[in-house]
Amino acid sequence: MFKFSKQKTPSSSASCSLSYKSNISYSSSGKFGEFGGKFVPELLMTCLDDLEHEFYKALNDVKFQEELGTSLTDYVGRETPLYYAERLTKHHKGKDGCGPEIYLKREDLNHGGAHKINNALGQAMLAKRMGRMSIVTATGAGQHGVATAAVCAKLGLSCIVFMGNLDIQRQPSNVRLMKLLGAQVKSVDGNYKDASSEAVREWVSNLETSYHLPGSVIGPHPCPTMVREFQSVIGKEVRKQAMEKWGGKPDVLVACVGGGSNAMGLFHEFIQDEDVKLVGVEAAGYGLESGRHSATLSKGIVGVYHGTMSYLLQDDEGQIIGPYSIGVGLECPGVGPELSYLKDNGRAKFHAITDEEALHAYKRLCRLEGIFPALEASHALAFLEKLCPTLPDGSKVVVSCSGRGDKDAATVQKFDNLHAITALMAKSNSSNTSKDLFDSEV
Ligand SMILES: Cc1ncc(COP(=O)(O)O)c(C=O)c1O
Repeated sequence: MFKFSKQKTPSSSASCSLSYKSNISYSSSGKFGEFGGKFVPELLMTCLDDLEHEFYKALNDVKFQEELGTSLTDYVGRETPLYYAERLTKHHKGKDGCGPEIYLKREDLNHGGAHKINNALGQAMLAKRMGRMSIVTATGAGQHGVATAAVCAKLGLSCIVFMGNLDIQRQPSNVRLMKLLGAQVKSVDGNYKDASSEAVREWVSNLETSYHLPGSVIGPHPCPTMVREFQSVIGKEVRKQAMEKWGGKPDVLVACVGGGSNAMGLFHEFIQDEDVKLVGVEAAGYGLESGRHSATLSKGIVGVYHGTMSYLLQDDEGQIIGPYSIGVGLECPGVGPELSYLKDNGRAKFHAITDEEALHAYKRLCRLEGIFPALEASHALAFLEKLCPTLPDGSKVVVSCSGRGDKDAATVQKFDNLHAITALMAKSNSSNTSKDLFDSEV
């Protein structure tokens, strides 16, 4: 099922120089096949048109690009390493000693601990350029909230972050950080789905002064393109680093998918390189048939949500079904329209990983490499168990380690405690059962 064809010889055309400058061309429709677009009330059209105009102007403005490049280097800490995970590679080798080489793109080492800051920084700079001094956003796991709060402090912007009360309970360390960074954290009943609706409401009531800063490749045009563009630095660096390390391209790229920003950031650079496989990993939660998952691409239906057409978790009446995952940041009811397009045209493949598989992958990376990955990234890492046995010896796999997992340590501990209790109960039940059996035999 996960068979990939034999690797091709690495292309010598891969560039070794890194430029943060964009090479995209202007597209007014924001359509990816049937997906994407701008499904918004007339009132917001002018706003989004202005944003699009400013975005493309900034991309072609040498000064903006220089400032962004300097901040990515000196503030965010780019470029992030492409780390050869030697012991993880050994773990995934077959009995014959053959298997792929695994490299981690260390987005967890960014300032703030995740890839989210690449986009937050770019957009906050754009907002300031547009004279919008008040930033409004929503966060799930809190990583995007922390990134936005940090760049707002740096740029002197005010920041409101909406967050579901359930997520506030699950990710308290990030809530503390956001507040320390000067953001106002507003609690909303529910989770990310509800918080993101509230952020849009706040923005719409202050269109003149505020800027809505989406944290993933979702929403109406130009948001998916803009977020992808600011995240595409990930893939650009990977191309350069792969060339330096082994003189070719990666064979497979693997990234977890919530809204899809770390996946698109990694994939975009390689979409035209047909010999590079693109694999997205969604959250299967308690299992794809359980009804409690966030596997939008595996189980969703096409529809319109938050201004864009894409795959969505929705019921027969078109009502959004609440997503679930132990990786809070993967709980997105919709997914980026460009990923929907890549799924339908077959350029990228998507799979799903359960909570339990992700938890094991989290602990495996801690023990084998001394790196604690975010539970979101652990979904991508868990997929290696299924992927590696299908790959030719020596092929190069790059996994997006999209964030660090100290925010998740308590969750992992709870899971371990629960397992210990379940094992104890099973043991005492089985001794009761054998006693019952013994009694009945007597
Ligand atoms: C560390 C990390 N990885 C991945 C994600 C999922 O988002 P996306 O699919 O946009 O990369 C999140 C979201 O919060 C995150 O915090």
